[in-house]
Amino acid sequence: MREQSGRFVDNDPILPLGQHTEVVLRETRRAENLAVRMISFRHVSRVYPSPGGEVHALRDVSLEIAPGTFCAVTGPSGCGKSTLLNLLGGLDQPTSGEISVDGLALHSADENALTAYRRERLGIIFQFFNLLPAMTAIENVELPLLLRGDRARDARARAAEMLELVGLTPRADAFPHQMSGGEMQRAAVARALVHRPSLLLADEPTGNLDSDNAARVLELLQKIASQRLATLIMVTHSPEAAAAAERRIPMMDGRLS
Ligand SMILES: Nc1ncnc2c1ncn2[C@@H]1O[C@H](COP(=O)(O)OP(=O)(O)OP(=O)(O)O)[C@@H](O)[C@H]1O
Ligand SMILES: [Mg+2]
Repeated sequence: MREQSGRFVDNDPILPLGQHTEVVLRETRRAENLAVRMISFRHVSRVYPSPGGEVHALRDVSLEIAPGTFCAVTGPSGCGKSTLLNLLGGLDQPTSGEISVDGLALHSADENALTAYRRERLGIIFQFFNLLPAMTAIENVELPLLLRGDRARDARARAAEMLELVGLTPRADAFPHQMSGGEMQRAAVARALVHRPSLLLADEPTGNLDSDNAARVLELLQKIASQRLATLIMVTHSPEAAAAAERRIPMMDGRLS
């Protein structure tokens, strides 16, 4: 297509005039729709059976999150924050309602699709770092790439890049027990991002860090968000961490509040 005297003229020799333009516009609109609704919860509930009666961990939650947003999920203990994150991670299924991420319907996806989703599109950072203790920092970071079958040399090079990003190059060969809490958590961030996921989930990523290390990890998460490397959903009890996010999603008793 090129512009001629203020009008778009279609030069595609295969399609008749105008039709190609229509297709392009339609595809663009479809991409926009998908992008705008990257994460959507529609009337999602999660009820856990329990000896003392059912626990309503999520009650009719509807929510949309645009791609690239840095969101903080906040609220008192037991209000359903981890439940929401587990559902987004495809680690748990809703009792009712629909969840879609990037066009994939998590509530109806089969186990193969969910495994592929977790391996390719998702990064997860936990409160307790959970690095593998027998592996060095760089070995921990390259692991997701080796698991998906990348060549060892490529995996090592990419892991080194990620350690650079989180400021851990000098600690690449340290084992977790030789690292500080902040270093371990930064290594965990590097590992969660190494395969370029479109969605990064973090459950209290600064919960076990002192204030200096918490600030460094937060700064790193903000950098990831500002470069739009991934949509970032972080559960936190920390007001500083919540303030660092672009959007806050407060919860109370299984609902958005
Ligand atoms: N596997 C389970 N079986 C039964 N009840 C559960 C289960 N997991 C969570 N719950 C209950 O669901 C509710 C929500 O739990 P959830 O872990 O989502 O809370 P949270 O907001 O993450 O809390 P915290 O801030 O303490 O981590 C709680 O009442 C909890 O006891
Ligand atoms: Mg929790």
